[in-house]
Amino acid sequence: MADKKRTYLVTGGAGFIGSNYIHYMFDKYDDQIIIINFDKLTYAGNLANLSDVEGRDNYIFVKGDVTDRKDVSSVFEKYDIDRVVHFAAESHVDRSIVDPEIFVRTNVLGTATMLNCTRDAWQQEDGSFIEGKRFLHVSTDEVYGSLQEPKEGEEPSYFYETTPYDPHSPYSASKASSDFIVKAYIDTYGFPANITNCSNNYGAYQFPEKLIPLMIHNALEGKALPVYGDGKNVRDWLYVMDHAKGIDMVMEKGKLGETYNIGGHNERQNIQIIHTILDTLMELLPPEDTRRMNVSKDLITYVTDRLGHDRRYAIAPDKIKSEVGWEPDTCFEDGIRLTVKWYLENEDWVNNVTSGDYQKYYEEMYSNR
Ligand code: NAD
Ligand code: TYD
Repeated sequence: MADKKRTYLVTGGAGFIGSNYIHYMFDKYDDQIIIINFDKLTYAGNLANLSDVEGRDNYIFVKGDVTDRKDVSSVFEKYDIDRVVHFAAESHVDRSIVDPEIFVRTNVLGTATMLNCTRDAWQQEDGSFIEGKRFLHVSTDEVYGSLQEPKEGEEPSYFYETTPYDPHSPYSASKASSDFIVKAYIDTYGFPANITNCSNNYGAYQFPEKLIPLMIHNALEGKALPVYGDGKNVRDWLYVMDHAKGIDMVMEKGKLGETYNIGGHNERQNIQIIHTILDTLMELLPPEDTRRMNVSKDLITYVTDRLGHDRRYAIAPDKIKSEVGWEPDTCFEDGIRLTVKWYLENEDWVNNVTSGDYQKYYEEMYSNR
C-alpha cells in the first residue's frame, strides 16, 4: 500500500497569511500532502486568493465556522488529519476596538473548539495521543504588550518567549487568551501542540484595512493617507512567506509544547513605511500610467490616534533560529517591492475586496477621525 499523504487541516486558509501559507506548502511539497482549507469566509476570507490551487485533487475547501463544534468535528470524521494549522481569527485591532465581542467568540471560543475537536480525534484510550499528530496555533507578538523606544545610548528591549503577557487591545487580549488555552491543553493533557508568536506580516493578498495595503490603495487613488498619532509607532515587519516557512519548520522541527517567536529584526516607524511605499510606487509605476499623477507625499494626513495604541513591537527570534534553524529569506527592501508590484498588478483583486462592505467600514473608521 502506498504511504498515506500527510493531511493538513488549515483553518482560516482563505485569509491573508493562510492563503500564502497554502501557496508556500504546495510550492514546497506539491502532491506529497493534502490540504483541507476550513474557512467561514468572513469579510477577510476570499477564495480568489486560492484560484490557482482550486483544481488540485490534493486541495479541499470546506466552508465552516471554528466556533461550531459540529462543523469542526465533521471534518475530523471525514478525514484522517495529521496536522492542524490554526490561523482562523478576527485579526484587525481597529475592528476589535469597535466590536470586541466577535474577537472573543472567534479567537477564544474558536480556539477552544478547535482544541476540543482535535483532542477527541487524536487522544487514545490510555490518554496518550496518536504518534506524529501535531497542532500549531498561529499567534501574534501583540500578546506581549508594548515596548519602550530605546533612549540614546540604551540597549533596545525585545519580546522573548519568556516575556510576560501584557495585551492591551481587545484583539491582543483575545489572542493572549487563546494562547493560554493552548498552553493549558499542553500542560493538562500532554496535547501535541506548538504556538508561534509572529510580528507584523506584509505581502500579497493582505486586506486593505491594514497599514501597508491601505496606504498603497489610497495613494493610487489619490486619497488621504491617515497616519495615527505622531506616526512614530514602531512595528517589526516580516514578509509573509518567511512566516509561512517558520510555521512549516516549527511543525516539523520544533520541540512539542514549545512556543517560538518569529520575526526578522526589521523595525520601522509607520511614517517611514509610508514614505517607502510612496517612493516604491513612483519607482515602479511607468510614466504613462495615469495612477502616477495621484501619488504624492501631500496625501499624508495626521489623524486622531488609535485608542490604547501600542508604541513599539520587536521580536527576538533567537530561539527559533537556534532550535529550529529558521531565518528569513526576504529583506524588507525586496519584500516591499514585491508587495507593491503585486498590488499594482492585481487591481481587480483590490477592487473586488474593496467593493460593498469595505466602503461602509472605511466611512465608519475614518470619516470623523
Ligand atoms: P485575516 O483576517 O486575513 O484572515 C482570517 C481568516 O479567518 C479569514 O479567511 C476568515 O474568513 C477566517 N475566519 C474568521 N472567522 C472564522 C471562523 N469563525 N471560522 C472559520 N474561519 C474564520 O487574518 P491574517 O492576517 O491572515 O491572520 C491569520 C492569523 O495569524 C490570525 O490568527 C492572526 O492573529 C495571526 N497573525 C497575524 C499577523 C499579521 O500581521 N496579519 C501577525 C501575527 C499573527
Ligand atoms: P495595522 O496594520 O493595523 O497592524 P497592528 O495594529 O496589528 O500592528 O497597523 C500597523 C501600524 O500602523 C499601527 O501602529 C497603526 C498604524 N496605522 C495607521 O497609522 N494608519 C492606518 O490607517 C492604519 C490601518 C494603521
